Amino acid sequence: MTLKGRDIISVFDFTIDDFHRLFKKAEEMREMFQEGPSNLAKGKNLTTIFFEPSTRTRLSFTYAMLKLGGSVVDFGPVEASSVAKGETLADTIRMVDGYGTDVIVLRHGLEGASRLAAEAASAPVINAGDGSREHPTQALLDLYTMWRVFGRIDGLKVGILGDLKHGRTPSSLSYGLSMFNDVKIYFIAPELLQIREEVVEKIRSRVDYSLSEGLKEVIGDLDVLYVTRIQKERFTHEHEYLLVKGTYRVDERLLKETKAKPIIMHPLPRVDEISPEIDNFPNARYFEQASNGVFARAALISEVMGLEE
Ligand code: NCD
Repeated sequence: MTLKGRDIISVFDFTIDDFHRLFKKAEEMREMFQEGPSNLAKGKNLTTIFFEPSTRTRLSFTYAMLKLGGSVVDFGPVEASSVAKGETLADTIRMVDGYGTDVIVLRHGLEGASRLAAEAASAPVINAGDGSREHPTQALLDLYTMWRVFGRIDGLKVGILGDLKHGRTPSSLSYGLSMFNDVKIYFIAPELLQIREEVVEKIRSRVDYSLSEGLKEVIGDLDVLYVTRIQKERFTHEHEYLLVKGTYRVDERLLKETKAKPIIMHPLPRVDEISPEIDNFPNARYFEQASNGVFARAALISEVMGLEE
């Protein structure tokens, strides 16, 4: 079984076997790209449609497709499209689909936008972030990064720190981790930013987890500390943002004081929650994590497009 022709809307569209197969395929992509560009996706096209800002997700999908030998069309800024004239998402997607693309990568501020797009398109749709809900390909590359460092995901103790309420990477990562064995998730956040009940509901019976406010109490237990930024743009009340702004920061002092040695990950962009002074520490893995995105996404699009058959 592969993911050929499938929409990827949620992490729950992957099985544990899919993850293991994609991790191995990402390793093959890494080797293949070292040898130079490939012809695997020759004649195929990927379209990126981003209604919210992005650097890594859009570019790593683009680099992945170009390295596979395919072409990429970017929808461009929303303001320059007919969306600005009031065109609906379903109509926009139907048009792009009609031009004959082989896969659509969509980021949108509204929860459920990718599902709606998948219903409108005959080409597979990959969710590149829908509001606060999910970001499944980020979870794929996050898990791939852990798997490369530890050789396994089973048994890992993973702290997820920051804006767990508004972020979509904490929810998708938690869903992914909950599929492995003996994992423990530590949700670490100021009370206002704790993980949403809807996320806890989905993982409750599948994985051990705890909620805490302070990082210092738990950092010594962790194999992985996954840091996220405060999602300023998703707050409805400015005063709530001001209450939590700057309430956590991972820096050299904290790591020395606690003698803790988890690997540090971050989906990026960071704002002020990780001090640049730790960037060159051997356990700081966030830039490597971002680079892994090209290989993980190449593995995924090659499967979804059925390239190896
Ligand atoms: C994340 C996102 O868009 O959800 N970024 C990313 O894709 N690497 C995280 C964020 O914006 O904070």
